[in-house]
Amino acid sequence: MKIAVASDHGGYHLKQEVMAHLKERGIAYEDYGCYSDEACDYPEFAHKAAHAVADGVCEYGIIICGTGIGVSIAANKVPGVRAALCHDCFSAAATKEHNNANMLAMGARVIGPGLALKIVDTFLDTPFSNEERHVRRVKQIEEIG
Ligand code: RB5
Repeated sequence: MKIAVASDHGGYHLKQEVMAHLKERGIAYEDYGCYSDEACDYPEFAHKAAHAVADGVCEYGIIICGTGIGVSIAANKVPGVRAALCHDCFSAAATKEHNNANMLAMGARVIGPGLALKIVDTFLDTPFSNEERHVRRVKQIEEIG
């Protein structure tokens, strides 16, 4: 499993913590930027990570900005991406079980690193339910796009 990670300046420091956590867990990742906390534009980095997921280079993505909203809106423009903005573990589990989300978005100005890493673990460790109704609904999302 390989994770595409990306952030803007607002998410840069939390992204460093997420990458250290993934490394500790032995999970491979690719950092699609940004590479410092200098002000930058989140769509560029969210798109790079989203394309890595949509193209199958990475299985999942973790994208971070100040609120998590900008990166999730940008990533969801890429066909095949289902990016979920989660600031609690219930949502992180539910979006894998129900939506088969392939990208997790978080806001570094919304939650602290302790909760963020628990959300990352919940997201990565929860499988898609594969229940017929959820398969059908995810398919309907793809058909709309
Ligand atoms: C940057 O100031 C901020 O707008 C960005 O990190 C993000 O929150 C946008 O949605």
